[in-house]
Amino acid sequence: MPALTGLLIDNLLSITSPEIGTDIYSLAGFKIRDAVSDDCEKIFRMCKDQAILHDWEHEITSSVDTFRKDGFGENPSFRCLVAKKLDSGEIIAYTLFTPFYVSWMGKCMYMVELHVTELERGKGVGRALVRRLAQVCLQEGCVRLQWDAMAWNDKAIKFYNKIGGKDTTVAFGGRRIFIMDKTDMENSG
Ligand SMILES: CC(C)(COP(=O)(O)OP(=O)(O)OC[C@H]1O[C@@H](n2cnc3c(N)ncnc32)[C@H](O)[C@@H]1OP(=O)(O)O)[C@@H](O)C(=O)NCCC(=O)NCCS
Repeated sequence: MPALTGLLIDNLLSITSPEIGTDIYSLAGFKIRDAVSDDCEKIFRMCKDQAILHDWEHEITSSVDTFRKDGFGENPSFRCLVAKKLDSGEIIAYTLFTPFYVSWMGKCMYMVELHVTELERGKGVGRALVRRLAQVCLQEGCVRLQWDAMAWNDKAIKFYNKIGGKDTTVAFGGRRIFIMDKTDMENSG
């Protein structure tokens, strides 16, 4: 069962300050920027690694062309930030996110994916990406940044707890995530 976790904006404020910008990360040898169409090949390779890590390889039905069209064409379905190494120019991490809305709260953001390439983990890249995303949320008037993690993914859960996420599996009386896949939707009516 996935553990639903997320950051409320109050928590975001504690990890975000207005002076934190791209430059601070250059001290650590990488910078965070919006993804562009030319990044798609590299990002999509990491998306596949993310699917493989979760044992969802059989569910990879998309392609880099679809990814490019859906994210960087007209009416994009998602937004994306990447971390780029300053020395080699290599893209080493990404986060993919999309807005949603809660009637009694207002604008929210869903972090759908977060992935740092294996060799670059533990160097502050994941934290920097979430920080930047938190800044984007605040700038755009979001009151919540939300995401989920698989319950077995201890490493990610420890990371999310470390960066100030509230685990709603325990907080707020708990929360369960439901999905319908294509077949479920076809059979739903
Ligand atoms: C989870 C992930 C995004 C973390 O990114 P990262 O760049 O390795 O993490 P950071 O270096 O920014 O770590 C930030 C803090 O979390 C802690 N942390 C990170 N990984 C941790 C782990 N496995 N166990 C305990 N603490 C951890 C770090 O020690 C650090 O704390 P500190 O600042 O007090 O030292 C990255 O490991 C990853 O991409 N994993 C594979 C994909 C994945 O599981 N994604 C999430 C899917 S829900």
